[in-house]
Amino acid sequence: MIGPPAQAGAHGATAPKKVGILLVAFGSSEASAQVSFDNIDRAVRQAYPQVPVRWAYTSHIIRAKLADQGKVLDSPAMALARLHDEKFTHVAVQSLHTIAGEEYHELRRIVGGFQAMALFEKIVMGHPLMATQADMEAVVDTILANLPQARRADEGVVFMGHGTHHPADAGYAALMYRLQLKDPQIFVGTVEGYPDVELILGQLKQRKINKVYLMPFMSVAGDHAKNDMAGSEDDSWVSIFTGAGIQCVPILKGTAEYDGFVKIWVAHAGEALKALH
Ligand code: CO
Repeated sequence: MIGPPAQAGAHGATAPKKVGILLVAFGSSEASAQVSFDNIDRAVRQAYPQVPVRWAYTSHIIRAKLADQGKVLDSPAMALARLHDEKFTHVAVQSLHTIAGEEYHELRRIVGGFQAMALFEKIVMGHPLMATQADMEAVVDTILANLPQARRADEGVVFMGHGTHHPADAGYAALMYRLQLKDPQIFVGTVEGYPDVELILGQLKQRKINKVYLMPFMSVAGDHAKNDMAGSEDDSWVSIFTGAGIQCVPILKGTAEYDGFVKIWVAHAGEALKALH
């Protein structure tokens, strides 16, 4: 005879409360990206010194590449299993993604699975960088506060977002709209979504902009920033704009290298921690 269903939570009733933060990024195998991750790690530990911090990378390819270099990074599921094994009872999973796109929702499904298994008393997820209109306002303020100092008002600034087939892709155009209300010479294009580089090029020509600063709108200055944005291949943004007579100054710095952006992620982790209580 099978007894009543076990209440996983009940077993933990006597276990002392143990709170942890799991930071989850896509990951990068580029050494240049590590400065971004270190920056976020430091800021989260400073803000919540009593809470242990763990990391996971969602990208299988990146994890395999790092493993070849002897660096073992967990997947989100593996990291959560470890936290359970270490008797954590409350876990805040903080997405270090830029928008709530495909990868963010994949992570949500994993967190949902752990919720269903009731291995933790509580597990909640923090928003990515830009989830709400308030986030977008904070992102706009941070961008405006960190524009290249040498830039003159008539010169353009073009951000390269990742872009996605996911509906959250709309956030990039919305961000550009908000930015242009404050500074009409700022543009937001994407590698894989909308607006694309041709659309941005058309805008630059229409406004007769002959010099632009190119900046990644991604947490790290990794492969996309180095190659798709600033690379020497014919289809890099630098090559496309330069070919159209527009002078380019690429700035290889991910958003997580700026304290202003990091603050937004840290605040979201704080909201997730609060929701654990
Ligand atoms: Co990509």
